[in-house]
Amino acid sequence: MAYEKGLLFEDDFQKSLKAQFCYADADPEHGKRLFFENSGGSLRLRRCVEAKADTEAYPDCPERYHARSLYLKGLVNEGTRQMMEIMFNADPGDGALMTELSASQTMFQMVGLIMTNAGWGTNAVVSELEHPSAYDSVQYYCEKTGREMRVAHINKETGRIDPEEIRRLVDKDTVLLSVMSASNICGVVMDMEGIVKAAREINPDIYIVSDAVQHAPHMAMDVKALGIDGMNFAPYKFFGVRGCGYAYISERVAHMPHHKLIAKDDKVFELGTPSPGNFAAMLATIDYVCEIGAHFTNSADRKEQYREGMERIHLQERALLVRLLEGTEEVPGLRHIEGVKLFMDPEYYEGRDLIACFLVDGIQAAKLVEEYQALGVTVCERAAESLYSKRIVKAIGADQGVIRVSPLHCHGTDDVDEFLKITAEIAAKAASGQYK
Ligand SMILES: Cc1ncc(COP(=O)(O)O)c(C=O)c1O
Repeated sequence: MAYEKGLLFEDDFQKSLKAQFCYADADPEHGKRLFFENSGGSLRLRRCVEAKADTEAYPDCPERYHARSLYLKGLVNEGTRQMMEIMFNADPGDGALMTELSASQTMFQMVGLIMTNAGWGTNAVVSELEHPSAYDSVQYYCEKTGREMRVAHINKETGRIDPEEIRRLVDKDTVLLSVMSASNICGVVMDMEGIVKAAREINPDIYIVSDAVQHAPHMAMDVKALGIDGMNFAPYKFFGVRGCGYAYISERVAHMPHHKLIAKDDKVFELGTPSPGNFAAMLATIDYVCEIGAHFTNSADRKEQYREGMERIHLQERALLVRLLEGTEEVPGLRHIEGVKLFMDPEYYEGRDLIACFLVDGIQAAKLVEEYQALGVTVCERAAESLYSKRIVKAIGADQGVIRVSPLHCHGTDDVDEFLKITAEIAAKAASGQYK
């Protein structure tokens, strides 16, 4: 397989990318730190923040006909087109873009739209690894529409939801299947092609949605190749800004009755005036990915540049994942540091996002996060009691909770090595009973 262990950017190129992010190496008040919490909200591109701020400065209503209004409306239209055709890879004119204040809202809206309008089916299937927005929306609408909710379990060896598990649960009366594209806790990427195929072989009419909030910033989305009905992402995890969430919905879902001004076309989901600044920021993210792509391909086609850019981001992240897990002769990786217990760390590197989740013997997860922060690393606890992670950490066999470490493509091997040295230091202190 090509680049099984990833492919690092050249040093200068990696550094030039990192320089484009705000506060990449230090918080302006709290000082130097490694930001390894990109699955909780990624480093922000300066150009996205500026595009949002610059656009917000104009008082003009995007619905008027003077030059500034047309410019603002143009950002919304172009942002919508590029998200649909470049990011989601939807055909021109296929489906619609759903915009909400958060990705969670788009998930509830998509699931609600399908479950309340599809006039058939007695059950829906959701995976146990889902973020609560995907899991709870299925539960909520199953209760509301009197359908049975079925839960697909993880394969504990691979960390994936197997197509066989989907085959076990889906039948001719399954109206909806919801499986995330990649886990935001352990980074394992699902075999969505196999899952869609398994479900559609049993039930060709089934509606399928996938939460791509974790996965979208790490590998290109492709609703056309998958032939699915809904997929969402969150710009603030995609180097962009907070305050918006987007979803692709398929043509058949877009025509279902929904909230809109009645005189507008069937497929219009816009209600009121969206913020052009959010679209400007998203266009800036797409520009950034295309620029990475253009560094490696001669193609002038924006779609091809974007695909190449996402592929290169993915390969850089895979190489960083290998470094994080295996380390080097000088600096042992997580797999080799005494006292580190990794969860969901299958042998393979392909089909994984850049996330490690683990515990260190002799120190509780919450204390571990504190200790990392004191030593200049921001990571996140996925607590066993948290409403966001309880069901998921139990599913991966981490009843005590875990910590999640998620660097980004703009980090370098020097950042990973620094993190590993700090980890070895904490593990040694924990082994000597210092945190008892
Ligand atoms: C996999 C996944 N889905 C959905 C969400 C929800 O995103 P938002 O906070 O934008 O609603 C998150 C956020 O952490 C997530 O990681």
